[in-house]
Amino acid sequence: MKFFLDTANVDEIRTANDWGLLDGVTTNPSLAAKEGREFRDVAAEILDIMGDRPVSLETVSTDAEGMMHEARILSSWAPNVVAKIPLLPDGLKAVQVLREEGIKTNVTLVFSTNQGLLAAKAGATYVSPFIGRLDDRAHDGMELVRELMHINDIYGYDTEVITASVRHPRHVVEAALAGADIVTVPFAVMKKLFNHPLTDVGLENFLADWETVPDKDDIFRDELVPA
Ligand code: G3P
Repeated sequence: MKFFLDTANVDEIRTANDWGLLDGVTTNPSLAAKEGREFRDVAAEILDIMGDRPVSLETVSTDAEGMMHEARILSSWAPNVVAKIPLLPDGLKAVQVLREEGIKTNVTLVFSTNQGLLAAKAGATYVSPFIGRLDDRAHDGMELVRELMHINDIYGYDTEVITASVRHPRHVVEAALAGADIVTVPFAVMKKLFNHPLTDVGLENFLADWETVPDKDDIFRDELVPA
């Protein structure tokens, strides 16, 4: 499963990128607003860090012409830009034209299987079902991911499913078990994936025990001699 970071915060992206586990970044207008900076600068820094890995930047028009115009501008910034397009009839019209032009799209604000099916049929590069927001309304958000993956299997759509609106580590487990192509996680959730109290206690014990090994100070002192 690919891991994307769901943030517009450059420091978070830099840190997660240093961990070597980052396959892409997704942003949205709310995440951009949170940064309180010029979005063009933020996007340029993110694109620079991510190299050729996909970075979703969102359009804000609600008509096809407007979305296509914005998608073309955003994707002119770098070849790895993915234009995020809301799931609207006009959005799916835009997706089809943009696909013809070679512009990658991520259809967002997807809350039903039929919406996701339409996005795949329109030829979206990615589709983003919002799991946490469905769970907030007492639905089983992950069922949407499972159904979209199943539909892709049946029909061979090449639209990759991004599990979005992730709130906690269990969502990541469930996305993996659902066979999701991608999970996009907030930085706080990504950090939690590393943690387990038994790891901390276990390491503490190992290090304390190592202190009692008689030649502990000699073992790693030597330069490595090639065999
Ligand atoms: O980027 C879209 C999505 O991940 C938003 O998440 O937490 O605002 O529902 P959230």
